[in-house]
Amino acid sequence: MIPACNLPSFRNALLSWFRRHQRDLPWRRSKDPYRIWLSEIMLQQTRVAAVIPYYEKFVEHFPDVQALARAPEEDVLRLWAGLGYYSRARNLQQAARIVVAKHGGLFPQVEAEVLALPGIGNYTAAAILSIAFGAKHAVLDGNVARVLARLGAIRGDLREGPRWLRLQKFADELLESEFASDWNQGMMELGAMICTPRSPQCLLCPVSQYCSARELGLTESIPERRIKRATVKVALAIAIFVDGKGRTLLLPPPRGKGSGKSDDIPALLSKMWHFPTIAVKKDAAKELRIHLAKMLGARSVRALQMVALSPARHAVTFRSVTIFPYRIKIVKLPRIAGTKITLLSELASNSSVAISNLTRKAASAAIASIVRTAKTALL
Ligand code: ADE
Repeated sequence: MIPACNLPSFRNALLSWFRRHQRDLPWRRSKDPYRIWLSEIMLQQTRVAAVIPYYEKFVEHFPDVQALARAPEEDVLRLWAGLGYYSRARNLQQAARIVVAKHGGLFPQVEAEVLALPGIGNYTAAAILSIAFGAKHAVLDGNVARVLARLGAIRGDLREGPRWLRLQKFADELLESEFASDWNQGMMELGAMICTPRSPQCLLCPVSQYCSARELGLTESIPERRIKRATVKVALAIAIFVDGKGRTLLLPPPRGKGSGKSDDIPALLSKMWHFPTIAVKKDAAKELRIHLAKMLGARSVRALQMVALSPARHAVTFRSVTIFPYRIKIVKLPRIAGTKITLLSELASNSSVAISNLTRKAASAAIASIVRTAKTALL
């Protein structure tokens, strides 16, 4: 799609631009495959700015694959808490254990062995192998696909099977195989900084002269907008018990696969430590009371005073979740096997327990309400 005679100058223009203008990102300061791998996993569906502090904290805690492999899963999830898509962290650690057990702690360089690791697909394998080892693999993710679609004026849904294969072929043809690491990162950087989904900055683009979409006036209409999955509304009632010492009760990460339905509680709670939570339909307080009665016994629940806190919104993939948190003052927290009693204040800040953002939001709402009540009492 770019004439062969133009390929050398096209490659040269992109590579020179990347080498001059690339952002200074922490994972670009190393060729350690473990660090490259970690960064690529964290960057899946997550913005660079959000990843940087997590990446830095993670490598400080787990500086190499051995440290990650031997850590308890809970520690890994705690460092991941807030970044979302927690199966990434679980897969990463499982893969680290395989790298240690099967590959002597050295990240494999054979593509089939890399693809066999949990959480690693075609894009991630190509990114790690090219960036860490200079292997001749062209990456193709959403950003790169957009760049290629504009360069070649490719219309239609880019994720459709045959079109995606065509884009991979195009990426393979363009690859500057002598410098696969810089080349792939240059394509990513162009997609992130210049050839953005909306209002691409064609005047600053180092390869605009090779771009068919620009020539045809199609930059804004390529790629075609994808039809988004409809969002499903879910309501959750959350019980935040608080005793006289400011401690609260957490239930352990739910086990098993979850139902996959829109109100799949394990998925919504990211399989982490959480407050007693149920999906509710009509009357959150009443339905929560019935649930707690089953958990704690009917008599003890009747006396509980539940303070309704402000509802809050939380978006998880295709779900729009509204949480209805209730603060429940209790003299003695129930002792239930497998549960955890922890300071509420610990959960709102940098928690030592692995909790999701949803649980953190509920904890913050409860603390704010306690502070408000205390201030009112002083007036
Ligand atoms: N997005 C995915 N991988 C990336 C990388 N290595 N650098 C910047 N952004 C990215």
